[in-house]
Amino acid sequence: MQIIDGQIKIIKDSRGNNTLEAHLLAKEGDGKNVVALASVPAGKSTGAHEAFVLDPKKAFDKFSEIKNNFLKINFRDQREFDSLLIALDGTQNKSNLGANLILSLSLAFARAWSKSRGIELYRYLKDLSDNQKKLFEDFPRPLFNVVNGGAHVEIPQSWDKKFGIKKGLDLQEFQVIPTVKDFGIGLSVGQEFYKKLGKELSKIYDKENVLLGDEAGYVCPFKTNEEALEIMQELINRHLYPLKIGLDAAASQFYSKENDLYTIEKSQMTPEEISVFYSDLFDRYELISLEDPFDEESFDDFHRLSDELLIQKTSNQSKKLIITDDLTTTNPQRLKEAIEKKSGNAILIKLNQIGTLSETIDVIKMARENNWQQVVSHRSGETMDSFIADLAAGSGAWGLKSGAPGKPERMAKYSRMLEIWKKENVVF
Ligand code: PGA
Ligand code: ZN
Repeated sequence: MQIIDGQIKIIKDSRGNNTLEAHLLAKEGDGKNVVALASVPAGKSTGAHEAFVLDPKKAFDKFSEIKNNFLKINFRDQREFDSLLIALDGTQNKSNLGANLILSLSLAFARAWSKSRGIELYRYLKDLSDNQKKLFEDFPRPLFNVVNGGAHVEIPQSWDKKFGIKKGLDLQEFQVIPTVKDFGIGLSVGQEFYKKLGKELSKIYDKENVLLGDEAGYVCPFKTNEEALEIMQELINRHLYPLKIGLDAAASQFYSKENDLYTIEKSQMTPEEISVFYSDLFDRYELISLEDPFDEESFDDFHRLSDELLIQKTSNQSKKLIITDDLTTTNPQRLKEAIEKKSGNAILIKLNQIGTLSETIDVIKMARENNWQQVVSHRSGETMDSFIADLAAGSGAWGLKSGAPGKPERMAKYSRMLEIWKKENVVF
């Protein structure tokens, strides 16, 4: 496939910050020209080992500098295109061109490739990732982040006087995860739960004190992390919803390197103490998954907790996940270390942590080969691009994490999943 022309546009993400959208005009053989677009998100609780994000205005200029290097070349596959971008960048962490610029081009290339062949993007990604499973057999489940904490919330100043609350919950994400196989039913249940939870929180805290965080999850004057979990659990039980609870602690955000302590609800905990705290949450709320329970360098603490929870406590270990995000940053070297040190059993996949589709696919394959589940994830600053839905479905991931089913940037991914689910479930 040849790229005939390309453009970079600066657009706004869900936080109102600038981000990039790549436009490529491409042609396969004697076929028609196709136009393909892709935009990239941005994280806030970013891991130290993530690839570099270049200021979008600088990235715009960089693109003009490099554009001629890939026009009119006959690319044989995705990897050839991605490798050229990596070579043009020439750094370890993509600090020259920026992982955001590189990724927007890499994803637009993937779209152009599938479009010019008349195949669905998720089908192309299925092939690219060597996924041998039938798509609808083990379809990814959605992880709805219905209560927001950590770096994704801003607390009104008035809450200090009114409730004695200065900051949001320590744990970053409180998710509900459907246990049903049918994606359509899972999505409806998630949407209904999200609405009911909003009403319930309005009753408890008053409507004016129910706000939304970056990922459309609720933000209320909760006094403790457990208070939010209790309300969620009670609502699930009351309506017998087929939902389990999952958490993303994003613990690097409340960890102090100086003294190796975690601060939760004003009390300081050693890694051993916070492990007991997590174990207790697993027991009391029957958690299905826990992401980033420790700091992003703490491979051994991840291992100890995984060992305790997944081997000693759980009879069916495949049912519970310890997910690594900031620890592994969708990076093959980091994942290798995590696998060797047995630091969990699932990895969060974020394309922009590494910066090309090919490298992301490598990480997905490495995880699969080592029996680690994969959860494909959005970022807290998102666009309307739904590429990650195709990636989750195509690669056969365990889950897709795209926030609460509340704001358009989050819903774009869930809606695309539903579309794929329906396409793959036609009966004739
Ligand atoms: P981020 O948060 O996109 O702000 O990094 C998401 C996550 O930690 O999973
Ligand atoms: Zn995370």
